[in-house]
Amino acid sequence: MNIDIITLFPELLDGPFNASIIKKAINAKLIEINFHNLRDYSSNKKKQVDDYQYGGGPGMVMMIEPIAKCIKKLKSKKHYDDVIYLTPDGKKLNQSISNELSNKNSFIILCGHYKGIDQRVRDLYITREISIGDFVLSGGELAAAVLCDSVIRLIPGVLGDESSALYDSFQDNILAPPIYTRPSEYDGLKVPDILLSGDKNKIDIWREEKSIERTKKIRPDLLEN
Ligand code: ADE
Repeated sequence: MNIDIITLFPELLDGPFNASIIKKAINAKLIEINFHNLRDYSSNKKKQVDDYQYGGGPGMVMMIEPIAKCIKKLKSKKHYDDVIYLTPDGKKLNQSISNELSNKNSFIILCGHYKGIDQRVRDLYITREISIGDFVLSGGELAAAVLCDSVIRLIPGVLGDESSALYDSFQDNILAPPIYTRPSEYDGLKVPDILLSGDKNKIDIWREEKSIERTKKIRPDLLEN
């Protein structure tokens, strides 16, 4: 998979892609991530990429020219399945969107800043708008890191234990069951006997029951769907 990220602050993304599972996936060539600094596409002497909004109002708006130039250049070299804009007014990210994106070959992610981007970028180039939740971040970079992480871990071969993503919370629209490791007793708190029983069938049933119990308590809305 190939992900091209258009950003004004590539340094914000140094950390998330340089450790753990994503780094391993990059090293194993299962995924390639490239950053494109939007300022490099500004024809303005001061490398300006934003301007005041028509009609008045607070906050600057990212201009169409540098964004269009960057997207056109990327598209001239490669086919992209999607051009994603990260924005609080996009469709809320969930596991099913992550699953869908994990099957794509390549996509562009545009990170917004300031008040957002000129509407014409959305009209002309954006194929999908995603929000990572009902709150506002200072920019799309941290949202891009969240989106990429949730997608990349689903690509076959990325996780050591192939099956482990299957047991993630939300994969079946329910939360994951409680998990334990050694020691089997800590401060009087014992690991449930069933998990030490070695009976795989009973353990599966217990886990499902606990998942449903937890979902009912914490996220009943998931069971309604
Ligand atoms: N940019 C700013 N806030 C955001 C959010 N909640 N999701 C995605 N992109 C954003």
